[in-house]
Amino acid sequence: MKKRTIIEPFKIKMVEPLTFLTRDERKRVIDEAGNNLFLIKSEHVTFDFLTDSGTTAMSAAQWGAMMVADESYAGSRSFERFRATVEKVMGFSHVIPTHQGRAAERVFFGQLVKSGHKIPSNNHFDTTRANIEFLGAEAVDLVVEEGKDPANPAPFKGNLDPVKLEKFCAENRGKIPIGMITITNNTGGGQPVSMENLRQVASIYKKYGIPFIIDACRFAENSMFIKTREAEMGSRTVASIARETFDFADGCLMSAKKDAMSNIGGFIALRDDRWLADLRNLLILTEGFPTYGGLAARDLEGMAVGLIEVLDENYLTYRLAVSSYFSEQLNRIGIPTMRPAGGHAVYIDAKAFLPHIPPEQFPGQALAVELYLAEGVRSCEIGSAMFGKFTTESSGAKKFVPAAMELVRLAFPRRVYTQSQFDYIIEGFEEIALNKDRIRGLKLVYDPPYLRHFTARFA
Ligand code: F0G
Repeated sequence: MKKRTIIEPFKIKMVEPLTFLTRDERKRVIDEAGNNLFLIKSEHVTFDFLTDSGTTAMSAAQWGAMMVADESYAGSRSFERFRATVEKVMGFSHVIPTHQGRAAERVFFGQLVKSGHKIPSNNHFDTTRANIEFLGAEAVDLVVEEGKDPANPAPFKGNLDPVKLEKFCAENRGKIPIGMITITNNTGGGQPVSMENLRQVASIYKKYGIPFIIDACRFAENSMFIKTREAEMGSRTVASIARETFDFADGCLMSAKKDAMSNIGGFIALRDDRWLADLRNLLILTEGFPTYGGLAARDLEGMAVGLIEVLDENYLTYRLAVSSYFSEQLNRIGIPTMRPAGGHAVYIDAKAFLPHIPPEQFPGQALAVELYLAEGVRSCEIGSAMFGKFTTESSGAKKFVPAAMELVRLAFPRRVYTQSQFDYIIEGFEEIALNKDRIRGLKLVYDPPYLRHFTARFA
């Protein structure tokens, strides 16, 4: 079939204007923010690709359902509708709502994870890792080797290495209260996990008696990747692939700010009730009563509708086409990206693009600043500005240990930007690629004690 223009499979009935600043105006904004994109106001950004989390445009059906929500403190009709939807899509009948993904992590791990425990996954997301480490346990990443090579175009670079996992489980008997996998693998570039890998991982966890919990934020995108890339999956519906994914697991943790198409929300979903009473007791302490868990009932309604909408294959075809198109266009104009494109985001390989900037001058951050100055695009550095460390040598000298990769993530909000806007951005990026030798490195002038990237300042 002839390849046709990517179109948004929806009509738009509510709009927000974009703001356009001149390069000089942006220069003033970014100088004031110490070259940190987290410190600028959204009104100074034209295209905001900082995250795909909570930035979704909700549909008319979601807003409509929100208007008829039942805001009762206990036993709300909206909770039951939400719970039944999670059960239909994922097959888990016990559902505990939370205000977002990390709240689900805190409540769930708070009940199950103790000091000295080890939790394997392909790659843990930052908040997942932080919540595990906060309890004195260890978050262990066992992604397949090809997942660490930005240029390797393998189809399922999010897979958890079954050989490493088997060895890890055998060596740590009694120390692993749960085993995880993240779909898609955000930290590893939004790369998918195959059905075959899910099956292998589930059987290893089962063999060692370890409950299997999926970090499911982008489960629909993962299911669409399985449909399009895995042998004998093409004729299946995405809904049935998603259901089979969860059939391997004992439960999931979910940030509804991604594939539940919502601006806020999250949940824990479980197949059986062994931890249920304890989790609910913990939930009541900080999140709220088990039928609302820190959310308004209208948010539960929005999530329930979003969980069904996200499985629309026209939507998912378009969703994955956008990131793969954007990535191909970047490559065409000479900007290298992590390959293949992830589901929710494209990751530029700043180390390969700007070899004249050494890691201690933060090539990813320098590129992120330039994308803002040139086009008003807000992205997120995932490299040495985020993960680089200073160590002190025995001589007393300070040494900088760079991150393994220097990436810049452009994460796409769901249903927000149009194809012509993406083309417009690419036209602007062409100029950047032509003049890349003029981009200069940055110097860290304020280094906060924790989570540097949120508040650091650069000159
Ligand atoms: N797990 C994964 C894989 C995530 O990507 C995120 C959030 C969370 C858990 C936590 O969910 O934000 O609702 O508390 N990722 C966002 C991002 C923040 O920009 O990638 P949350």
